[in-house]
Amino acid sequence: MAKKVVLAYSGGLDTSVIIPWLKEKRGMEVITFSADLGQGEELDPVKEKAKKSGAVKVCIEDLRERFLTEFVFPALKARAAYSNGYLLATALGRPLIGAELVRVARENGAAGIAHGCTGKGNDQVRIEAAVRALAPELEVVAPVRDPDWGFKSREEEIDYAAKRGIPVPVTKKSPYSYDRNLWGLSIECGSLEDPWTTPPEDAYQLSVSPEKAPDKAVRVEIEFEKGVPVALDGKKLNPVELVAKLGEIAGAHGVGRLDVVEDRLVGIKSREVYEAPAGTVLFAAHKALVELCVSRDLVHMAAPLSAEYGRLVYYGLWFSPQREALDGFFAEFNRPVSGTVRVRLYKGSAVVEGRKSPLALYEEKLATYTAADKFDHTAAPGFIKLWCLPLAAEASRAARMDGDRGGKKLKIK
Ligand code: ARG
Repeated sequence: MAKKVVLAYSGGLDTSVIIPWLKEKRGMEVITFSADLGQGEELDPVKEKAKKSGAVKVCIEDLRERFLTEFVFPALKARAAYSNGYLLATALGRPLIGAELVRVARENGAAGIAHGCTGKGNDQVRIEAAVRALAPELEVVAPVRDPDWGFKSREEEIDYAAKRGIPVPVTKKSPYSYDRNLWGLSIECGSLEDPWTTPPEDAYQLSVSPEKAPDKAVRVEIEFEKGVPVALDGKKLNPVELVAKLGEIAGAHGVGRLDVVEDRLVGIKSREVYEAPAGTVLFAAHKALVELCVSRDLVHMAAPLSAEYGRLVYYGLWFSPQREALDGFFAEFNRPVSGTVRVRLYKGSAVVEGRKSPLALYEEKLATYTAADKFDHTAAPGFIKLWCLPLAAEASRAARMDGDRGGKKLKIK
C-alpha cells in the first residue's frame, strides 16, 4: 500500500504541483488539508483543484474562531510582538496548521505530513516544530526545498501542471508574496526586496493610505473581559465578527501598517511589510486598560516576558513548556483587565482617548489636585527620607574615601 501524507494545501501553484510530484517521485498518496484562518478566499474552489491535482482525500476546516481564541488572544494578553511591532499574524497561524496536519494524519493513518515551504523561511520551522512537539513519529516531506524538486521557474511548474490536467493560473502573478489571515497580512518580495524602496500602494490589501483616509476621525469603543475583547461599540460580538469588523473600520482609516527589516530565525535579515488594522487598535486599547488596572510592579515585570513571548512565537516554539508557563503568568496578569476603551482612528493613527474599568487601580481621590484630594501629604517627607537613606550613606562614605562629600562628581563647590 502506498504511503499516505497530509499536505498543507493552499491551492496555489506550488502546493498543486506537489501532489503529482509526491506520487511520481516518492510513490506517496496525498491527502490535502486546507484551513480557513480568515484569509478572505473561498475554499470551495480549493476542493475542486485538490481533486483535479490528484489528491486521494480533501480536508477543509474553518479554524477562524479557534485561531483567534487559542492563538491570537493569548498573544494579545501577553502583548507579544516581534521586530518593533509585528503582531505575528503569520507566526500564530502556523502552529495551528501544524497541529491540524497531525490530527488529519492520525485520523487517516498517514505516515507523515508535507508542506510547500522553501528552505529559508520561518514558516517551515513553525510547522515542523508543531509536528515535532505533537507527533515526533511523523515523517516530514518538504518537496520545494528538496534537491530533487527540479523546477527552475514558475513556467516549468505551469507546464508540468498543464500536462497532468491540473488547472493552471490564468491571472498574472502578483509580484508580492502574501500570507493573510484574520489577524493580519504579511507582504514580501517584488520591489520590497530593496529596503530603500517605498512600499508601493498596490502592495497593501487591508488598509488605505493615511493620505487617502477620511478627513473625519472615527471613535471605536472596545470592551475587554480579562484581557480579551468581547464587544465593539457596545455590541457583544463573537471573536471572528469583532476582529473582522474592527479590521474593516481601522483599515478604512489607514491604521495598522508596518515596514521593518526583521531578523529571521534562519539567520538572514529580510524586509517585511505588514498590515494588522484590528490588531493595532486592540493592542493600543489593551495597553490602556493594563495601565489603568494592573499594579506598577507587575506591569514592569511583564515587559521582558512579553518580549520573550513574541520571540518564542516568532521562533516557532508555540507548543513548548515555556509558552504554557507564560500563559499562566499572563492569565493572572489579565485577571483585572476588564473594562472599556475609546480609541480615535484618524489617518493612520489609533489614539486612546478614554478608558474605564470597574477594577481600575486608578483612584481619582488620590490623583486629584482639587480640594477633593485624599492623598496623605504628611506621609511624603518620611517616605522620601527612608527612600533616600542609601544615597545619604553613600555620600558620607564618599567623604571617607577621597575627602570629598560627593560634591566632586557633581562639580559642586
Ligand atoms: N516574515 C513573516 C514571518 O516570518 C511573514 C512570513 C510570510 N510567509 C509567507 N509564506 N509569505 O512571520
